Amino acid sequence: MQIEPLPKHRAAGEKSRLMKNDWSYAVPVSLDDFAARDWALLDSQRGPYSAAQRAKQALEMLAAQANAPTFGYQINNYEHCLQTATLVLQDGGGEEDIVVALFHDLGFVTNNENHGQFAASFLAPYVSDRNVWMLERHMYFQALHCATHPDVDPNIRERWRGHPDFEYTANWVAKYDVPSINPAMENARLKTFAPMVERLFATPRNDIPIPK
Ligand SMILES: [Fe+2]
Ligand SMILES: [Fe+2]
Repeated sequence: MQIEPLPKHRAAGEKSRLMKNDWSYAVPVSLDDFAARDWALLDSQRGPYSAAQRAKQALEMLAAQANAPTFGYQINNYEHCLQTATLVLQDGGGEEDIVVALFHDLGFVTNNENHGQFAASFLAPYVSDRNVWMLERHMYFQALHCATHPDVDPNIRERWRGHPDFEYTANWVAKYDVPSINPAMENARLKTFAPMVERLFATPRNDIPIPK
């Protein structure tokens, strides 16, 4: 495997051009050497940094897929995400549900095998438990709509029958996800959703559990 060289803008030992003049920087270059004052410095700047960067970087992660080729569907995954969010928007969905739709397949290409859990983890600090549950399982609920697939169990969702979010997830998949591979459908642009992403990402939950 080839290791990428350091970016041209910073050779080893040179100051990063990404250090901002109006910010302060911790001196130690290993976490082992950080003192309490260094953590206090970071904590004092984390809020404004997150406010400026979280939504921006999330949107850039999706935008990075805009020109990726589609591998068999008539639209690519980026358009599918826009189309799903557009359907929720047109259906009068709230901002959280629109943003959930926008990012539900963010990891469809890089993490196809567990892309529902990818999206659930990605959005967990910002959305309800119901949407986390739906995101984790949406690919399995989708199986019902792929009954002609030779390797898919269309009834795999039945293991969750009776869960309070079962019907919500089944409805979400049928109404917004399944039909959103249609090149004839007009999508809203990503910039339409950007202010919603910014608002949702402004207030992360602080009750994300530590893994067991
Ligand atoms: Fe999906
Ligand atoms: Fe999808």
